Amino acid sequence: MSQTNFAGQAALVVGASRNMGRAFAEALAADGAAVAIHYNSDSSRADAEQIAAGINAAGGQAFAVQADVTKVTEVRRLFDTVEQRFGHLDILINTAGMMVKKPVTEVSEEEFDAIFALNTKAAFFCLQEAGRRLRDNGRIVSVGTSLLAATTGYYGVYAGSKAPLEDFTRALAKEVGHRGITVNVVAPGPMDTAFFYSVETSETVAYLKRASINGELGQVADLVPLVKHLVSPENRWTTAQTLFINGGFVSR
Ligand SMILES: NC(=O)c1ccc[n+]([C@@H]2O[C@H](COP(=O)([O-])OP(=O)(O)OC[C@H]3O[C@@H](n4cnc5c(N)ncnc54)[C@H](OP(=O)(O)O)[C@@H]3O)[C@@H](O)[C@H]2O)c1
Repeated sequence: MSQTNFAGQAALVVGASRNMGRAFAEALAADGAAVAIHYNSDSSRADAEQIAAGINAAGGQAFAVQADVTKVTEVRRLFDTVEQRFGHLDILINTAGMMVKKPVTEVSEEEFDAIFALNTKAAFFCLQEAGRRLRDNGRIVSVGTSLLAATTGYYGVYAGSKAPLEDFTRALAKEVGHRGITVNVVAPGPMDTAFFYSVETSETVAYLKRASINGELGQVADLVPLVKHLVSPENRWTTAQTLFINGGFVSR
């Protein structure tokens, strides 16, 4: 395994048992970072452990770690565990998120509380711990959504729960920027993942595909180069931003 860009760096990828988080974790590990593979559900444990084992077998350094990041005590335990294991922390990538696709008139209190607990509260407290603990020149990326720039029905509670990420990010970027730490949001459009298909119909999939430049959905691999750059030592100057990456779906 090549030890180039990220040698000597330790990364925590929240939500790394599949899809985006897995791709980001494996990309950083392939370039020399020690990576904590976070998962939450019991059903994701085997996948997370297999990803860590694959990285270790290839000569990298990784371990799987469970936490329900909707609880602040769990967020802190997660960061404690990673610091104890690696001795320090340089990079946080937070991909944890959930979707509710419903008209505003039909969202229940339970759905509202659940989605804000993960997409908003957990995202905030992960940023808080990273702001407190990352070494100088650390890097933070949270995953938002391109829906922030769309005028559309049914995604109100989802996009609304992701929107505060921008303000959290801008504030933290200013507060920790003097230590060389950058903080950004990556905002994907519709992606070819189970997360997307779980709430769409064949008609809405076709509609959303037509909104891109070539009639396709984004692939997880399309996001990796941007995220890797944002968390790399080379990225000194991109901070406090929301970067849309969506094949031309929407822009702002
Ligand atoms: N896929 C898309 O089309 C799309 C488009 C734009 C933005 N996004 C955003 O991209 C991110 C990743 O999406 P994805 O497609 O990779 O979906 P995914 O595979 O479903 O990832 C969601 C992750 O959230 C974790 N998670 C759920 N509840 C949690 C909790 N209470 N504590 C800690 N972790 C929890 C899950 O971990 P466990 O499985 O272990 O529970 C899982 O790893 C999400 O934030 C999503 O909003 C997705």
